[in-house]
Amino acid sequence: MKIIDKDEQRKTPYITAYKKYINSNITSFDVPGHHQGIIRTDFDKLFPHEVYKNDVNCPIGMDNIMHPRGCIKEAQNLFAKACNADYARFLINGSTSGNLIMIMSCVKAHEKIILPRNVHKSVINALILSGAVPVFAMPEIDLQTEIANQISFKEWKKVIDNNLDAKAIFIINPTYFGATTNLEKVVKYAHSKNMIVLVDEAHGTHFYFSNKLPISAMDAGADMSTLSVHKTGGSLTQSSVLLIKGNRVNPYDVNKTFNMLTTTSPSSLLLASLDGARKYLVFHGSNKIYQAIKLARYSIEEINKIPGFKAHGKEHFLKNGAYDYDQTKVVVEIDKLKLTGFNIYRILKEKYQIQVELGETYVFLCLFTIGTTKKHADNLINALKDISLKYYDSKITYQDHHYMKDFPKTVLRPREAYHAPLKIVPLKDALNCISKEMIMIYPPGIPLIIPGEKFSQDVILELAYYKKINANIVSDWEGSNEVSVVDMDLFDKK
Ligand SMILES: Cc1ncc(COP(=O)(O)O)c(C=O)c1O
Repeated sequence: MKIIDKDEQRKTPYITAYKKYINSNITSFDVPGHHQGIIRTDFDKLFPHEVYKNDVNCPIGMDNIMHPRGCIKEAQNLFAKACNADYARFLINGSTSGNLIMIMSCVKAHEKIILPRNVHKSVINALILSGAVPVFAMPEIDLQTEIANQISFKEWKKVIDNNLDAKAIFIINPTYFGATTNLEKVVKYAHSKNMIVLVDEAHGTHFYFSNKLPISAMDAGADMSTLSVHKTGGSLTQSSVLLIKGNRVNPYDVNKTFNMLTTTSPSSLLLASLDGARKYLVFHGSNKIYQAIKLARYSIEEINKIPGFKAHGKEHFLKNGAYDYDQTKVVVEIDKLKLTGFNIYRILKEKYQIQVELGETYVFLCLFTIGTTKKHADNLINALKDISLKYYDSKITYQDHHYMKDFPKTVLRPREAYHAPLKIVPLKDALNCISKEMIMIYPPGIPLIIPGEKFSQDVILELAYYKKINANIVSDWEGSNEVSVVDMDLFDKK
């Protein structure tokens, strides 16, 4: 970890320029057209007139996100320094755009990229847009909770050695559920084979501000990383940061792709929230994250006293394919309850006003963050005690697991399948058809099938099960019980 210049980090260049602009009593003839809230909508009335008043675009004095030279550049530099990176760019369309930018600026059509199969949908979209050839490395699967964890160093090495012509590797640090791989070792090995290392740290912003968490991408020597600062770093939803280190990545290619994918009307609220979150994390992050870890540990202990639930922490994940673990996450397994994780996700919200991050068949996931308090933890524990009283049944044997043992086979490049002729078939008849689209449960947004993969019996059963229990399936084709596949008759004639 690099030593941070705390005096410099006290500055908030974007917020300073922003305040000056807002307080300068501007007569506006520019966008946004509400002109700092002259009109009053119902939305505006929700707040004490603050959001509209402070919503401006890129006026004079507030720099330009397409080619920062002023306060955005200064704020980005401070962010880069706080994270031991050489260069940072603020993102206002989440790590979704970070993943697109990283892959599109480093890997061209027909070049190979090595990546885990349990990536977020944005990564698959990046493959479609870039035309890259994916080579999937397989994560370790925890069959008890049905969670795909991390890729062992052995698997990374095997896939890298078998694909020495790959341009880049892509690592998730950490996964949605908190597992990390041996990042330093994988980065070193990939670099020794001249591969660029890209890291999805959508769930890892806090790693940069605590020594009690797994190593961050920049500290491990990776070339580029995207952080959803809004997820665990305290900025506003959508605001994220792209970090770059070293000289393996060409900044020109990054800028080109950034400007292709980024709105020309960035929200000042989002940008200012990044500047504020960085300063907050530098000065308070370490303490707040330590508190979150202690609350997570306390909750695990308490939840494990409640019949029907098994809360898992670091030890469980280290036994199931993780090299290290983000202890601000608590995965709770359902054990002898007449409910699924999907049911509990809903019941917690509807009956107890508790919103957890995600529910799946056998687990639900709670995030403990810089915003979590003891009262929050106790509310959760008490709600689970109440649920246990109503739904615990010691006679229930563990429900059938539906997990796909194998991910489906890739037979076309995602881009090729995306552009191929369309055919709609009933799900039950889709065996061996090639998917044209991604289908997933959201959250977490990890596709069950992606464009170019063949429908296997496992995928069909899995999807039929999710439809039956009315899970939140996200797909592009809206017809129920049908899927969109490549029309091979027309494809072969191309
Ligand atoms: C692993 C992973 N990567 C990327 C993203 C996209 O991040 P964002 O929501 O900031 O666009 C997510 C979102 O949940 C994610 O889980």
